[in-house]
Amino acid sequence: MRERIQDMREILIKPQFHKFGDFKEFAQEFQLDSRDLVLTNESLYIPFMKDLELPCKYVFQEKFGLGEPSEEMITNLFSDIDPKDYDRVISVGGGAIMDIGKLLSLKRTGTVHELYFKTAEVVPEKEHIALPTTCGTGSEVTNISVAIVRDEMGKTTKLGLVSDLLIPTDVCLIPEFLKTLPYEPFASSAIDALIHAVESYLSPSRATMTSELFGVKAMELILEGFRMIGESGPEARFEYLDEFLTAACYAGIAFLQAGCATVHAMSFPLGGTYHVPHGEANYALFGKVLEKYNTIQPDGKLLKLKKTIARILGGSEEDAIKNLADLENKILPLRPLRKYGFTEEDIELFADSVLMNQQRLVINSYVPLTRELIVEIYRETY
Ligand SMILES: NC(=O)c1ccc[n+]([C@@H]2O[C@H](COP(=O)([O-])OP(=O)(O)OC[C@H]3O[C@@H](n4cnc5c(N)ncnc54)[C@H](O)[C@@H]3O)[C@@H](O)[C@H]2O)c1
Ligand SMILES: [Fe+2]
Repeated sequence: MRERIQDMREILIKPQFHKFGDFKEFAQEFQLDSRDLVLTNESLYIPFMKDLELPCKYVFQEKFGLGEPSEEMITNLFSDIDPKDYDRVISVGGGAIMDIGKLLSLKRTGTVHELYFKTAEVVPEKEHIALPTTCGTGSEVTNISVAIVRDEMGKTTKLGLVSDLLIPTDVCLIPEFLKTLPYEPFASSAIDALIHAVESYLSPSRATMTSELFGVKAMELILEGFRMIGESGPEARFEYLDEFLTAACYAGIAFLQAGCATVHAMSFPLGGTYHVPHGEANYALFGKVLEKYNTIQPDGKLLKLKKTIARILGGSEEDAIKNLADLENKILPLRPLRKYGFTEEDIELFADSVLMNQQRLVINSYVPLTRELIVEIYRETY
């Protein structure tokens, strides 16, 4: 394919989409066999897969290290799993599992470090079927794989490997998986999806009519669900799992086109250094970032966003950002960064790390993201 000068696509939706009632229905439709590698967690395997006694190879991520994907974890997986032993990768899990599944579907052209630092080529080799079990990252549709890596200064940070060749071939949505997701990761992943919808909606030069369509629909579904939980408590989510899973996927489609921005750029060093779960790290910054946008540039696209939030939640557009923060606080109480281990010294260090490592996100900021503004946001969320 010829290279294009500019990416003028309205939207990119690459996988084939399916919805199933349960894993058994999926396994029958895709005829899982011994050449399939299922990457998952044991805590998902036992309730949803074990009894089916399928002949596929199961690999549990936690055997290779805990927490979010790291260079070391993926390196261990690479050395333990021979690519000759499987034809398809089936990722059943949260964003972490799916991001690792993306790497396992590639030809081994170099080390994990070389892949993330772009000195090894991304060459797809296997089919990759993604089954998300959280309602957050949208990784099932995106062209990004995120891992904790060591940067040039020897510091750990999170870095995204980006290539359209990483997009899974199929996405299978099975809302039943969300039943075992505990309330906190459920809530933080849903807030992550909401942030994807909002950041992509506000993305100054990359948002398109079609990305807005998916972003606004995701906001509607998530905020309606949050309103129900706010009124009736966490149990209310069980009536609405399909909508949350679908919304996360829509938000993924929106941000794949339009990009994430300030919130994600600033949360990455936090996640990389203090291992704060992705959704929580974003949530810790989200409200303050919107407040700053509202002070610096309250009109234009932000005004449209405030109108959209007011339409969904009720209340006035002037109060929309505060009403949103209040509702989120009911869903998941907001914590200051210092509760996650963040120190005052990190304010300046992280600001430099954001500008050095996260330019792909910094460029999508609704207002120009200066070092001064980054420092201010970290200081006020500290
Ligand atoms: N590629 C992308 O486009 C993209 C976008 C955003 C974030 N990410 C990455 O995704 C990761 C975060 O993903 P996440 O928020 O989905 O969390 P996660 O994948 O880290 O999972 C969180 C925890 O929940 C458990 N879990 C997942 N589903 C479960 C279920 N149904 N029942 C019980 N337990 C379950 C997991 O085992 C894990 O302990 C981060 O590594 C982040 O960097 C990727
Ligand atoms: Fe995210």
